[in-house]
Amino acid sequence: MKDVDGEENALRVAHDVREAAHAPYSRFFVGAALLSESGKVYSGCNVENVSYGLTMCAERVAVGSAITDGSRDFTFLALVSDSKEPVVPCGACRQVLAEFNPNLRIVSQNLEGMTAEFRLDQLLPTPSQGILG
Ligand code: THU
Repeated sequence: MKDVDGEENALRVAHDVREAAHAPYSRFFVGAALLSESGKVYSGCNVENVSYGLTMCAERVAVGSAITDGSRDFTFLALVSDSKEPVVPCGACRQVLAEFNPNLRIVSQNLEGMTAEFRLDQLLPTPSQGILG
């Protein structure tokens, strides 16, 4: 069953945390929030670096925050960005998210409220299995 309140809450958190992004190079601020089974929400924003390749996406920062708190059972990812179209997680983030929930439900919104919904297994149907494969 969909946790409507939990998802709304995660979207609000993603909206708010977006403003904390460190994005002086792209000026593209992204907020992410992972909802765990317990209803707890873990947030992340993008953290850029003058050495551009070191940039951390909001999604991966949110994963770090959940794992740090001992939570791996997230069911839902909320994303908020100021873009024409709602943002879609990059390939690296898809793989990192798939480590914990390959079927993760994702809702992405822009600031006008335009919404896109995905399942991680649509975005990344064949995650790398590494040594498990
Ligand atoms: N970015 C994210 O944080 N998440 C996404 O899903 C798309 C891109 C960040 C990375 C970089 O700081 C900026 O947005 C421009 O790509």
